[in-house]
Amino acid sequence: MKHITCIEDLRLLHKRRVPKAFFDYADRGSYAEETLRANSEDLKKIKFRQRILVDVSKRDPSTTILGEPSSLPLILAPVGLLGMQHGDGEIHACRAAQAAGIPFTQSTMSICSIEDIAANVQKPFWFQLYVMKDRGFIKALIERAIAAKCSALVLTVDLQVIGQRHADIKNGMTVPPEWSLSKLIDFASKPAWVAGVLQGKRRTFGNIAGHVKNTEDLNRLSEWTASQFDTSLSWKDLDWIRNIWPGKLILKGILDVEDALEAAKVGAQAIVVSNHGGRQLDGAPSSIEVLPGIVDAVGSKMEIMFDGGIRSGQDVMRALALGAKSCMIGRAYAYGLGAGGQAGVEKAIDIIRKELLTTMGLCGVNTIDEIGKQVLAK
Ligand SMILES: Cc1cc2nc3c(=O)[nH]c(=O)nc-3n(C[C@H](O)[C@H](O)[C@H](O)COP(=O)(O)O)c2cc1C
Repeated sequence: MKHITCIEDLRLLHKRRVPKAFFDYADRGSYAEETLRANSEDLKKIKFRQRILVDVSKRDPSTTILGEPSSLPLILAPVGLLGMQHGDGEIHACRAAQAAGIPFTQSTMSICSIEDIAANVQKPFWFQLYVMKDRGFIKALIERAIAAKCSALVLTVDLQVIGQRHADIKNGMTVPPEWSLSKLIDFASKPAWVAGVLQGKRRTFGNIAGHVKNTEDLNRLSEWTASQFDTSLSWKDLDWIRNIWPGKLILKGILDVEDALEAAKVGAQAIVVSNHGGRQLDGAPSSIEVLPGIVDAVGSKMEIMFDGGIRSGQDVMRALALGAKSCMIGRAYAYGLGAGGQAGVEKAIDIIRKELLTTMGLCGVNTIDEIGKQVLAK
């Protein structure tokens, strides 16, 4: 890992170490990938205001997230199928987050189950919920998250219908992997991945195997998701979820001011301004484009989290300058996981931490609270 200096290095190593279907699953977006690209391109357009001769010897990137101390304004976002990027991937990613002192969010679509992770890590983690048609199962899933002492529920609200990801269809993306000649050739060149994932004991959706029909044989992920996820979900269902989940609630996937105002009314403590990393509504604006409007509308009522396109500490600084309280990263740490398991995720977090500290120094600020629009060039 010593020659890895940026997130792109981790991405390239991930690409070399993990079969194409799973690398593409992490890397690519929906349809023409316009929103995927806009997320990164719009962040890069934001320029900093360099300041000089300010005492920046006491820089500190720590903050609080929903009232809890965090070593960085950073959260590992829910990412499905981490256990297909690296054996027991969710456990490795969660351990890396906890070692770094930041929150980890487990996806509903994880390979390791909630109980598996809870048994293998030291501290509570967050649980992300997709609402499926079988509400009895969803109630039980929330109760499992409560029993595992998950410290926040992240309700993802931007995936009632699934945005088509061409690469997943072309690659025949399945869980567990389906065998074909081209896949066998691909797997043969990735022996460490085969040893960790194919020969590991966790190879299907840990949270839902045995509860939802057909997880074992209806494996085309996008078709399966489309058949299970509840397209009738609406604001009215929030009360139902609120009655089962008493703890901190975060609504993830908000891009519109009207939706943000609605979220403030249903008792959510936070929202994540997010377009699902450009994997859902292609042609939607980048997350950073809509962030300032949402902060103006609801920033005084709820904590505003941000994700989409963050590949560096500079990007974190840009989002904080425009009003986010913290940022989630998805691909940046998934690349680290594919590249090197827990050490790779730790590396991703460390890269972003160092970049953030340097950027704070060159913009003349010492604390996260000091970061505001004044650090940006006009
Ligand atoms: C491979 C992959 C799988 C994802 N799976 C989920 C998921 O299961 N639940 C969810 O709420 N978001 C999911 N997301 C979206 C992320 O939580 C996050 O919004 C997104 O990755 C942020 O963009 P970034 O990858 O540019 O950081 C996924 C993203 C990726 C890249």
